[in-house]
Amino acid sequence: MSATTENISSARAVTSGKRRIPVTIRGLRLGTGLVLFVYVITHLSNHALGLISLEAMEAGREYFLLAWRNPVGSVLLIGSLLVHMMLALYAVYRRRRLKMSVGEAVQFILGFAAPILLVGHILGTRAALQLYDTDDTYAYVLLALWVDDPTHGIRQSSATVIIWIHACIGIYYWLRLRPWFARALAWLYGFALLIPVLGLLGFVNGGRAVGQLVANDPGFRLDLALDTNAPTPDQAAQLGVLEDRIFIFLGALLVGTLLARAIRLYAERRRGVLRISYPAGRVAEAAPGSSVLEVSLLNDIPHASVCGGRGRCSTCRVRVNSDLAALPEPSDAELKVLRRVKAAPDVRLACQLRPTDDISVTPLLPPNASPRDGFAKAASTQGQEQEIAVLFADIRGFTSLSEQKLPYDVVFILNRYFRSMGEAIEGAGGRVDKFIGDGIMALFGVDQNAKQGCATALQAARAMAYRLDELNDLLKADLPTPLRIGIGIHVGPAIVGEMGYASATSITAIGDTVNTASRLESKTKEYGVQLVISQQVAELGGIENPVWPSEDTEVRGRKEPLRVYIIDDARELPERKNTQSR
Ligand code: FES
Repeated sequence: MSATTENISSARAVTSGKRRIPVTIRGLRLGTGLVLFVYVITHLSNHALGLISLEAMEAGREYFLLAWRNPVGSVLLIGSLLVHMMLALYAVYRRRRLKMSVGEAVQFILGFAAPILLVGHILGTRAALQLYDTDDTYAYVLLALWVDDPTHGIRQSSATVIIWIHACIGIYYWLRLRPWFARALAWLYGFALLIPVLGLLGFVNGGRAVGQLVANDPGFRLDLALDTNAPTPDQAAQLGVLEDRIFIFLGALLVGTLLARAIRLYAERRRGVLRISYPAGRVAEAAPGSSVLEVSLLNDIPHASVCGGRGRCSTCRVRVNSDLAALPEPSDAELKVLRRVKAAPDVRLACQLRPTDDISVTPLLPPNASPRDGFAKAASTQGQEQEIAVLFADIRGFTSLSEQKLPYDVVFILNRYFRSMGEAIEGAGGRVDKFIGDGIMALFGVDQNAKQGCATALQAARAMAYRLDELNDLLKADLPTPLRIGIGIHVGPAIVGEMGYASATSITAIGDTVNTASRLESKTKEYGVQLVISQQVAELGGIENPVWPSEDTEVRGRKEPLRVYIIDDARELPERKNTQSR
């Protein structure tokens, strides 16, 4: 377990309050939605067989029924439908703010429109089967929807499209944060278009086939009614009454939910307010139980929320500047997302954090954050102090060399040198921070710890010395004298974070440790050696009983002298295996 993970876990252990319901709800919503999505795919695929023939549709229907009209399939389907609807109402009840993004609003509205458009079809098929033993074959359904009541057919087709779009938006919100999503987008897009188009074309073709059967055979309608045990006019009227009652029931459910939501918000307001402080002195008041994100959006405080508050994207994350122990415990789902972005212990998801007391927060991402930011690498990118090893290297006498060479040759030699040294550093597990003139700065242990950082930095120095030999050999015809380098390595606390502007942004480090490493590299000139390392680097790097001369040296900018080892040739460093293993 990483230190960050441990910190998050321990932060969780010391906080109080249980808020596990949203995790279950999110999983349920997704699970039930996926069941319904699979049902719709199989249903539309069955329709698509109409492009072959009516008989193919009927044959496909046998398999479709086998999957969905057995006791398990029925419970799964009907249960998912009911639970999904209830969860949608619950989401309305929980929302403090009905303002939402266009995508969310479309999904919401389509989701509520779907049951209204579907009721008639469900009653005419499933309910007719249960109540009157009607066999709702394709011919029976297409006669009703295509031949007898085309407006009903249009309504049904619209319902299909609406449900499909609703599902696709949900799937999009679910998957768009996956790293592979952008690569798979074209395929998913094709799938999302193909399935309903083929389904609807099959429906049209099947409908036309039934229309022809009716036109060609006057007895077809009666035979079909007898074969399928179609509802009598009285039974159809009963179904009509049932449909009206269901409409009233659905309407009452929605109105009741909105009413309950209004009462809840009113009661919360009466319970008092808590204050959330933002940077630049902004303070927003909120009803207890509101999430930080809800408060931001309610008060027009710009706040990133790529996933719309579903706790998936992490772009809403905030640094909590007040007492962490007073916060409600993060749910497992929130912890998972925080671990994914290697968040520091004082970072929480604003959409999941519902403070019970006044708090102060700092949103960490700009309001226009993109889904990519949801995978923001290590916490180090956000800026944090950590113990790392820093290596500086410089070519000795390069200025005079460059004066003797044509610019083209200088660039060529430098690029060969940078490539060799870069490969040596990265091969050992380090990170090239920057090339400055003919100098190199590299960081070690940024994603590990100081001990591993020192071990890898020493291995990098050793590899650099060997690579320099190879390079000198390779360039001996171009160089008046072989290239010589000086390397300095120091370890200690540094501020590590993503710094820079636009494309010139990278993870770098600043602080005394960096300055000291640079000074040690300069010391190699004084001592006339290839490598100078601080005593801490040797110790943490696991070098037992160093044999090299050492001394306490004054380093500019430091109050205390620093004990260093003076190493003639970095190839004298012991070889170590698996320095990258964590
Ligand atoms: S808005 Fe996406 S995790 Fe909070």
